Parts: sequence; structure tokens; C-alpha cells
Amino acid sequence: MTDDPSPWIWDLPDGGRSNDADALQVRWKAVREAGGWQAEVLGCIGDDPLTLLQRPAADPAAPRLLIAAGFHGEEPAGPWGLLRFIGGADPALLDRVHLTLLPLVNPSGFRAGRRFNDWGENPNRGFGLHAGGIAPSREGRVLMAQAARLGQAGRDGVLSCHEDIKQATFGYLYSLERAPAPGAFSRTLLAANARHFPIHPDGEVDGCPVRGGIVFNRHDGSFEAWTMELGVARAACVETPGQADIGQRVAAQADMAEAFVRFAIAAAG
Ligand code: NI
Repeated sequence: MTDDPSPWIWDLPDGGRSNDADALQVRWKAVREAGGWQAEVLGCIGDDPLTLLQRPAADPAAPRLLIAAGFHGEEPAGPWGLLRFIGGADPALLDRVHLTLLPLVNPSGFRAGRRFNDWGENPNRGFGLHAGGIAPSREGRVLMAQAARLGQAGRDGVLSCHEDIKQATFGYLYSLERAPAPGAFSRTLLAANARHFPIHPDGEVDGCPVRGGIVFNRHDGSFEAWTMELGVARAACVETPGQADIGQRVAAQADMAEAFVRFAIAAAG
């Protein structure tokens, strides 16, 4: 590690810096205390807790959704966007789903504005059958120890909030569905992204084929792909352009999280 300042730390539109993990935590605490949330520390990553938040629905049959943010520390719009959605959401909307959140998976990377954790591990690789020989990170080991529970929590959908720092312009997503082609789930998330950013042209992104803004059914040892092995119905990793305006990126992430929740409610009828 070096002490060079990260180029991936931003001034947030409503004040503060994008890597301020303490400020993020203070704001989550206020959200939690405002209503209905249970917090649990799943494990510690160095000195940082890896926290899980849950908010049950009154109806046991309501959709069960899992949203995770902050796997990569230089992608801050995910954690801030998730906070923005949850903090501003109508409680009546949240009441309609069993919601589980991992608000910040990689705190040491987030604080440094750096992709990997303090130990040089990629927290979004090394999961499941397609780990490809990559050992799980500290964060991954904590999450894997909760496999059965996370699979249940995300039964009706998993959303992981990422950014692509190589992109100045385009948004896109990785999605996994139990179907040969992207369906309404993928299209709904893409449409929410497209309200903020032009969609990535067909071709390649990060070595993966992208068509219509979607990298589809790619099993790459990521957290989201692993949740499909746990039996969830569908999963996505959404990507905002990490070089674009931070305010727009946060707004897009918040919109996509809301679209994810609304899709599950609509699908449940
Ligand atoms: Ni990422």
C-alpha cells in the first residue's frame, strides 16, 4: 500500500467526501433508528464490522430481496445510492418486501478509495463453483459462512451495486436469470440505469460480451453469480460510469435499487 491519494474520492453533492465511512455509518444509524430495521454484525474485516440489515414485511409471503453495496472501494456511488434510496423510501413501499442489506461490504477499500481491501484481496471474487482457483477474500469468507441465510434472504432477487471506473459515459449491467435471454428483470434495471446514462454499445466490456447493455448469465466467481448457486431466482450487478458526475451516479444507483424493489412487488402481484 502507498499513501498516494486515490483519484477515486469525490466531493458528494450534499457535502462530505465519498470515502467517509464514518459519515456513511452515522447516516445508516439514523435510517435504522427511524424504523423497522434489525442490524447484525456478521463478522469483522480487520477492525471493521461487516454489517447486515434486515427489515421484515408483515406478510410472510412477501418477496425476499437482498441488496449489497461496496464490494469495490473505488465505486462509492453504490453505497451512497443505496443509502439515498432507503433513507428516502416510503415506508409503505419497504413494508411490501422482506429486505436484507449489506450496506458496505469492503470498508477498508472504501475508506482508501481503492478497489481491493487492505490485504490486497478482491472482495467480489472467489465465490462458489466458478471461483477459478481464486481464494475468497476476508469479506467473502464472512459472507460464505452465511450461505444458507443469504440464499433465503435473496430468494426473489439479489442486487449488487457496482461502478466501472474505466467508463466515463456508459452504464450497463451484469444479470443472471433462469432463462436463455434477459427478461423483464434485466430490462427493468437497465431502463433505470438508462434514465441517467447512455447504455454501453454492443461489444465487449471488461473482457465480457455486452449486448443491449447487458452481460448475461456470466458465472465468474462473483458474489452475485454465487447467489444463483444458492438458489435465488435472479441476480444483477449494476454498473454506473465511475468517471461521470458523482451526483448523477448516486442518483442512478438509488433509482436502480428502487426499480429492483418495485419489480419484485409487481412480479409478486
Ligand atoms: Ni465493482
